[in-house]
Amino acid sequence: MSGGALLAAMPATGLGSGLRAPSLAREAEAAGRFYGIAARIDQIESEPGLADIVRRECNCLTHEIDLKWNVVQPGPAHFHFAPADGLVRFAAAHGLAVRGHTLLWEQSTPGWALGALRRRRDWSIVADHFAALLPRYGERIAEWDVVNEPVDSEAGEDGYRRTVFHRAFGPGHVARALREARRHLPRARLMINDYGFDYDNPVEARRRDIMLRMVERLRREGAPLDGVGVQAHLDLSKGPFRPAILRDFLSALAGLGVSITITELDVREHDFAAPIDLRDRRVADEVSAYLNVALAEPAVRGIVTWGLSDRHSWLQEQRPDHVTGDSGPALNRGLPYDADLAPKPLYWAMHRALAGTA
Ligand code: XIL
Repeated sequence: MSGGALLAAMPATGLGSGLRAPSLAREAEAAGRFYGIAARIDQIESEPGLADIVRRECNCLTHEIDLKWNVVQPGPAHFHFAPADGLVRFAAAHGLAVRGHTLLWEQSTPGWALGALRRRRDWSIVADHFAALLPRYGERIAEWDVVNEPVDSEAGEDGYRRTVFHRAFGPGHVARALREARRHLPRARLMINDYGFDYDNPVEARRRDIMLRMVERLRREGAPLDGVGVQAHLDLSKGPFRPAILRDFLSALAGLGVSITITELDVREHDFAAPIDLRDRRVADEVSAYLNVALAEPAVRGIVTWGLSDRHSWLQEQRPDHVTGDSGPALNRGLPYDADLAPKPLYWAMHRALAGTA
């Protein structure tokens, strides 16, 4: 029996941290890849059982929020590195890699920097931020989302999102940020990271085109771009998922000479009234279909889910009917472990997808 078939035969719930099957990290490694999650060190350190599962399942961690500019430098002279350092220390202690997320993202730029960039087109504001962050971690963070979400197919200018960085420095800010990061990191994989490439609709079709043109231009101009992060926030209201569309997009990216990481995989549910079994099956099937395409592309180096357990999913914050502390049926079930830290059908679907490409 293959590893995948063996795992498929195992019960889908109730195994907790006593799982005997190889972890997602081991399956990923066997296929020459990594599996990681977005995490917060305060949760890892305070919630019983969580640290063991994280150590077991992952060989890579991403800070969910603690490395963002507004967290590490809330005021011009106020730095706050403790949680960011904490996750990097935890990763080092357990032999896990770290993905750096993220250097330039308008949404996580502190108010003081937004104000300063609106007043003066002064690149040193960006350069100082990179200088505060990058040498601190150096080679310990081997892959960075240098620019997050530069694409805007609807209100953008030539597809570039009209951010404070775009207004101050033009479309060249992406290449400039990559070069600035490279000065500090001669070997790290430098990436741009974005969402909305997954489904068959006109907006996402434009987004795919824009991303391909952006990457082509950056490579042609000699910008130090090594990879593209495909966020993969899947959404059951947007389907059906069409494999050929993702396959063509990933292979076009690979053809431009960049590596690919699936950086923020999760599934937004649509029908919360359905029985839990059916909901879990829909979520698992969506991810199976997605990963079967993604993992068939050799340029895809790793898979990161945006969290491990539904307990912590950002999709919960996003829901209009969000009730803090709710763990009932209204909780979005779009991550591999449920709110009680039991693996769900999605977890086993990920196993099978990773094992299938080993
Ligand atoms: C999200 C975090 O998960 C939230 O906790 C936070 O409030 C906002 O940011 N795309 C990204 C991530 O690139 O940084 C975002 O993370 C989710 C969307």
